[in-house]
Parts: sequence; structure tokens; C-alpha cells
Amino acid sequence: MTSTTSHSPAIAAHGLRKAYGDKTVLDGIDLAVPTGTVFSLLGPNGAGKTTAVKILSTLVSADAGELRVGGHDLATDPQAVRAAIGVTGQFSAVDGLITGEENMLLMADLHHLPRDEGRKSAAELLERFDLTDAAKKPASTYSGGMKRRLDLAMTLVGNPRIIFLDEPTTGLDPRSRHNMWGIIRGLVADGVTVFLTTQYLEEADELADRIAVLHDGKIAAEGSADELKRLIPGGHVRLRFTDPDAYQSAATALREVTRDDEALALQIPSDGSQRELRSILDWLDTAGVEADELTVHTPDLDDVFFALTGPATLTDSTKENVR
Ligand SMILES: Nc1ncnc2c1ncn2[C@@H]1O[C@H](COP(=O)(O)OP(=O)(O)OP(=O)(O)O)[C@@H](O)[C@H]1O
Ligand SMILES: [Mg+2]
Repeated sequence: MTSTTSHSPAIAAHGLRKAYGDKTVLDGIDLAVPTGTVFSLLGPNGAGKTTAVKILSTLVSADAGELRVGGHDLATDPQAVRAAIGVTGQFSAVDGLITGEENMLLMADLHHLPRDEGRKSAAELLERFDLTDAAKKPASTYSGGMKRRLDLAMTLVGNPRIIFLDEPTTGLDPRSRHNMWGIIRGLVADGVTVFLTTQYLEEADELADRIAVLHDGKIAAEGSADELKRLIPGGHVRLRFTDPDAYQSAATALREVTRDDEALALQIPSDGSQRELRSILDWLDTAGVEADELTVHTPDLDDVFFALTGPATLTDSTKENVR
């Protein structure tokens, strides 16, 4: 169906540019998404994630750039690109006035599926997304999570091999979000390529093979979740005291610590490994320090996000993980 070979990426952009008026939204973006992988585009509100999705899915034209999706050139062959992809937009494409099933059949018509095949595909997808019971009800009566599932089911009509998901789990409860992740993993296991935008760093961490952080029109960093986490410092052990005297003597006894006099807390840089923790504990014993609370902090994607996209300080944005 497509001319993609195993070594040409499913989605490739080189020098992608887009401005609205005098506002440059995408300022020369390069990206390559290998077939059968999940690529996640992260960025704060207004960073240009939806713009990138709209351009790559042929809904909006780029100002410049060499763009190929499914092996087809977006500039010369948008029809072929459209035939190869599915898109779940940030805002629902579900028509509330008709039933879930009718929404699905409408998509089947748009894809020119023969009638029988369209019905079969609609029924299968409704089943897979746990919407069979609600299929004959108007979509306006669906909960937010059901509408989002219907949205994704509609995207999969016609069995696209490349799908764009623009914030697919925004507004979903934790269980629905985990279900959606399961569905996305299942698609990838079938060899589907997924281009995902999200506000949930945990989601990118869970799903994405590669993550790119969009900031000021450029890709501020790109890599696996682990690679991105390694980009920023911030691992430490934090000791908290309730007794001001104990805090004071610990602060004097220990070197290379950062003091937080107000919280009566000390921070010791650490990578969080067992070996380092053991040596810190030995060191505390030797110095006769007894802290009331010890927490280990390891940088997470939130830290990366804040470090790359905003002025917030690392310690404000970091999360404490007790181990
Ligand atoms: N049709 C348009 N006309 C003018 N400006 C636009 C248009 N579409 C988007 N923009 C602007 O482009 C910038 C990027 O918008 P975009 O929707 O791509 O951001 P986003 O990263 O998806 O944000 P969010 O996280 O809020 O969904 C914003 O400043 C937005 O105001
Ligand atoms: Mg958006």
C-alpha cells in the first residue's frame, strides 16, 4: 500500500517551518520516526504540537521543509499520505447527534470501504474499545472517556499504518488512561507507527521510544526518556530533621551539603544507586547524624520538561521519591 521500506522512516521532516502572521511557530524542525515505533512530541501550551500534527497529517500546509509520511512526499502526494494515516485530533471529531455506530460507519464511508467491510470493521472496533453496548446511543450521551475511545476507534477505521494522536488521554481518568495506553501498545505491537503529543510526561515515559521537547519553535532536546533524564542533574538524598539542634550539628558535620534552614533539611548530591546510598548511610552513622526522614530523589521527565521549557527552578519542580 505504501512505498515505505524498513529503513526509510515512517515520518520524516527536514527543516519544517510554519509561521502564523509574524509569529514563528515551527522554526526549522527535523525529525525521523522509524516504522513501528512511538514518537512523542512534548511541549508547553502553544509550543506548536498541534500545528506539527496538522502539517504532517496534511490538514495545514507548511511554509517550508521536506516532509515525507509513509514514504510519500507531502508536497506532491498528499492524497497518498492521507490514505496511509489516521488522525485523532486534540478536539473530538465525534458527531454527538448520531450514534457511536453511525459515527464509525461515516468514517468507513469516508475511507470508501465497501458496505459489508465497513460494518464489519465498525463492529470489531466498537467491540475492541468496549463500546458495543453504547453503539446504538447518540454520542452526545457518552462520557468524556467514551467519546475519546470512539475518537480513537474512528481513527483506526481503514487500518492505517501510521497514526497521529494529539493528546489522546487528556481528560481521561487513570483507569481509562491506562486502557488507552494498552490499546496504543497493541497497535505498536502490530507494527503501527504512532506520533503522539501529550502533556503527561508519564505518558511519554510509558509509551514513547523517542521523545522530543518542543520549545521556542525548535526541538530543545530529543532522545529516549532515559537519555533525556540523564541530560539534567538533580539526583540527591534529602535529610529532614525536626530538632533544630540535630539539624545544626548535622549541617556542620557533613560537607558538600545544601542547607535548607527553613525546612531543617539537608541535600546531598547522589545518583540514587544502592552503593552511594550505603556510603551516605555509613557516613551519617560515623558523623552520629540521625535524620527524621530520608528521601531519595531521582530526576524524572517533569524535571527535564521544566529545565528545558521554563524558568522554574529544579528544586521547585522536582518530586521526592521515597524508597
Ligand atoms: N490557525 C491559526 N492561526 C493563527 N495562529 C495559530 C493558528 N493555529 C495555531 N496558532 C498559534 O500557533 C501556536 C502553536 O499552537 P498549537 O495549537 O500548535 O500549540 P500546541 O503545542 O498544540 O498547544 P496546546 O498544548 O495548548 O494544545 C500558538 O501560539 C497558536 O496561537
Ligand atoms: Mg495542541
